[in-house]
Amino acid sequence: MKRRTALFTTLALYLGLATPGLAQQASDTLAPERPGGASAAGAAVTGKSWMVAAANPLATQAGAEMLRAGGSAVDAMVAVQLVLGLVEPQSSGIGGGAFLVYWDAKERKLTTFDGRETAPMAATPLLFQNEKGEPLGFMAAVVGGRSVGTPGTPRLLEVAHRRFGKLAWRRLFEPAIGLAEQGFDVSPRLAGLVAAEGDALKRFASTANYFFPDGAPLKTGAILKNPAYAATLHTLADEGADGFYSGPLAAEIVRTVREAPANPGLLAESDLATFRVKERAPVCAPYRGLDVCGMGPPSSGALTLGQILGMLEPYDLKALGPSSPEAWRLIADASRLAFADRNRYMADEDFVPMPTRGLLATDYLKARSELLRGDDALPEVAAGTPKWDHARLDPPAYADDAALELPSTSQIVVVDAEGNVLSMTTTIENGFGSRLMVGGFLLNNELTDFSFKSQENGVPVANRVEPGKRPRSSMTPTIVLRDGEPVLTLGSPGGSQIIGYVAKTLISHFDWGMDIQAAISAPNVLARFDAVELEKGTSAEALEPGLKALGFPVKIGEMTSGVQAIAIGDGELRGAADPRREGIAIGE
Ligand code: GLY
Repeated sequence: MKRRTALFTTLALYLGLATPGLAQQASDTLAPERPGGASAAGAAVTGKSWMVAAANPLATQAGAEMLRAGGSAVDAMVAVQLVLGLVEPQSSGIGGGAFLVYWDAKERKLTTFDGRETAPMAATPLLFQNEKGEPLGFMAAVVGGRSVGTPGTPRLLEVAHRRFGKLAWRRLFEPAIGLAEQGFDVSPRLAGLVAAEGDALKRFASTANYFFPDGAPLKTGAILKNPAYAATLHTLADEGADGFYSGPLAAEIVRTVREAPANPGLLAESDLATFRVKERAPVCAPYRGLDVCGMGPPSSGALTLGQILGMLEPYDLKALGPSSPEAWRLIADASRLAFADRNRYMADEDFVPMPTRGLLATDYLKARSELLRGDDALPEVAAGTPKWDHARLDPPAYADDAALELPSTSQIVVVDAEGNVLSMTTTIENGFGSRLMVGGFLLNNELTDFSFKSQENGVPVANRVEPGKRPRSSMTPTIVLRDGEPVLTLGSPGGSQIIGYVAKTLISHFDWGMDIQAAISAPNVLARFDAVELEKGTSAEALEPGLKALGFPVKIGEMTSGVQAIAIGDGELRGAADPRREGIAIGE
């Protein structure tokens, strides 16, 4: 039976078919963020009225329940996020932060909400350095209280619901509370990642007790209850986000961070009490008659994606096609140039001046694009000199950033019956975050998205730690418009590979005409720094000789994207989830 399903989905994928109604493509194999995983093919789902896709079937079902009950896209997103924090706790939850990009169908307007974590007011640029001013080792910084930023997700859910929700706040908690109290099936992916974590996840007693009941790692299919999370959700359902940011839960979060046996942190109750979600203007970039819109600083997502696409605009990728090393040379070098700018200039704009408009200016991108005119890989890539937005300021000098962002995070997309569209990328940063657990959920390690190095030869790094600042992100929640109408919503987990995963999906769909599911399932190929990264075990490996001949170093490895997307057009919604993880789409 399993073989027949796999055969059907593979065939459906090849033929670009869609499965109507309830979907579909939950992988029954583990596709971990570490080497050794497998993947299963996916098939798109079609609907006429609404669609939701998320990284776990139980979470998608919670969203579908809200939409069936007449809920809005935001209602569905809240229910999905609360369940994800239970069934995919390693990736996102109320202990983390998120960015939401939202299309309001009635107002015909895009907006974005920044629920990114903030650094404690007691933090300094030296947070991740030893006594000699040397950067700490990455995992030494991650595990424990030091890396924990003020969580933003609970307030984001509330702010979004107050603005765009239809169902009662309490109603949105029902699926997650039910699953936490009655238990849910541990997924293959969660069980696999717990086993792979081993002793690192046993460092703190509450975390060890939850993920290693009776001392053994959680097994696939075990029924897991989380009464502490259910109690936390009851508090939030009754008291709103204030029940998180003040009172006993806030005190417990602060105590857990400050008294962590490893790496005690700096979070204070005042950091929680003063946390604010910020509504920001979207950052949009033109590409082949489309507007590709997403989250601006403190995310580097929309700016870097917009730069990549802007540099590629003059080149005929369609004629070259996806098997051509020349197409990937252009994409890879455009990405390397964009990442050089990202590492120099992009950070939390509320704290450091940024050339935000200059980075996407047509003349600037045209000049950067000219650098791609040669035949071979660029031997060296450096940040450019975009115009600064603050013309009367002397342009500040920044040193390059040294943040290391490893794969993590989760993606939610929804279209509701009224045509509202959302894309939310949500995270606790590293898999299992700081490994500290309180109230049945994991606390983030988002502060390690700052550069550990704060300056070089006296020149400051833009993305250095500062009190109250948000660490730079790569999350790229995206809504694409054509003639002012949304035609696609998407995003992915994956640390700084997120940007490349989203770029590959967009180019595959819009330049190479692939169905949205095929675009997601197509082998991952991207570049951030010098090497081109090819997805192991896929046809992308065939590009290796051609790319090497063009002068690129090539790395072949696991590239576990987790793209969720909904294509909107011709009276139909087409939901698709990444077969590399466990996500599904459901639509009607
Ligand atoms: N922590 C993942 C990101 O924000 O890019």
